[in-house]
Amino acid sequence: MDKVNLDFYMYFELSEEQVMIQQAARDFAQNELKPGVIERDEHQKFPHEQIKKLGELGFLGMMVDPKYNGSGLDAVSYVLVMEELSKIDASASVVVSVNNSLVCYGLENYGNDFQKEKYLKPLASGEKIGAFCLSEPEAGSDATSQKTSAIDMGDYYLLNGVKNWITNGSTASTYLVIAQTDTSKRHRGINALIVEKGMEGFTVGAKENKLGIRGSDTCSLMFTDVKVPKENRIGEEGFGFKFAMKTLEGGRIGIAAQALGIASGAYELALNYSKERKAFGKTISEHQAIQFKLADMATEIEAARMLCLKAAWLKDQGLPYAQASSMAKLYASQVAMKTTVEAVQIHGGYGFVKEYHVERLMRDAKITQIYEGTSEIQRIVIAREVLSQ
Ligand code: CAA
Repeated sequence: MDKVNLDFYMYFELSEEQVMIQQAARDFAQNELKPGVIERDEHQKFPHEQIKKLGELGFLGMMVDPKYNGSGLDAVSYVLVMEELSKIDASASVVVSVNNSLVCYGLENYGNDFQKEKYLKPLASGEKIGAFCLSEPEAGSDATSQKTSAIDMGDYYLLNGVKNWITNGSTASTYLVIAQTDTSKRHRGINALIVEKGMEGFTVGAKENKLGIRGSDTCSLMFTDVKVPKENRIGEEGFGFKFAMKTLEGGRIGIAAQALGIASGAYELALNYSKERKAFGKTISEHQAIQFKLADMATEIEAARMLCLKAAWLKDQGLPYAQASSMAKLYASQVAMKTTVEAVQIHGGYGFVKEYHVERLMRDAKITQIYEGTSEIQRIVIAREVLSQ
């Protein structure tokens, strides 16, 4: 069967196991994430206890082979879990996403046996948390312009520079750091290095005070003459940029599913509220103005869900998924923004106060259009793919 035919044969029914995993994530979100989510957002408190439990349940190394302490699940299950967690707490779900699809995926697919044994195992079990460090003060979208340097000193690299906007910046123990070794080779002179917290010369900067996903810790990292052993380089010399790009392809599925969850969480709140709130003698759900909003929200969320599942399904089939993951992220993040704004509108004044949750989801939605590649970057990736076909 060729690729085009397979696209048409995407199978829609979830397996029993996938439904069970989805339900487990839904229950976890209701019972463990919902209590305290407003307080964590307000005080920028990292969900330590909740992340520990997610690790114990196998949600931090979902797609990793059980021989490396993972759960051995597929990417479709990962999308289902990300949606459920993100409906309630996008700060917790971004930790899950980065650990699973950037850090664990990167190490399992491109690391060597030593790296998998030493670093992947504790990350997949949730004993440790990982961070993916690509962005810099002057290299966000333009990721080939890395200023952080990793000079080859024989048996180690001397790492110097600053990384910005790092999710899990202070809570991580293991950092995958992208750095330039040979400027004359441009992106082919970039390496991906595993850096451990506590290495001499490595310091974590202050936590950013953010608009949304305030419970997650986003920090700058400073590297001053950090000696990183050669054995900590992922892949061949100069593989770092491709490593980052390949890893981000899967990361974008996770963030697309996060955006989907933020949208569907806000939609469910708005739907329920519309059936309770009365105005002009009937529930607001009986007014066509609200019905039209709900119809658009439901339709767009369904389309976003299909894109997320398709990207995950392609990944599970071992088929190319760069275009699909960028489409899913581009569209789902737009839907997250639009749906959350409408959910606040449906709630009226109540939507503007914290107790009703939708204002937080609206603030959380914005970052899904920015991190792991802005919407403009997704369009670049999609346009290149469609033009090359
Ligand atoms: N897979 C494999 N290789 C790839 C690739 C992919 N998906 N995309 C690019 N490459 C390769 C190219 O083939 C090329 O290699 P060769 O020259 O050897 O063929 C090399 O990488 C450079 O590619 P381009 O010339 O296409 O590079 P570019 O400078 O034009 O930019 C880009 C490409 C798509 C814009 C890229 O820079 C990009 O994705 N930028 C956004 C970065 C990003 O997403 N940052 C997010 C930070 S992580 C984060 O947010 C995590 C978090 O905390 C939540």
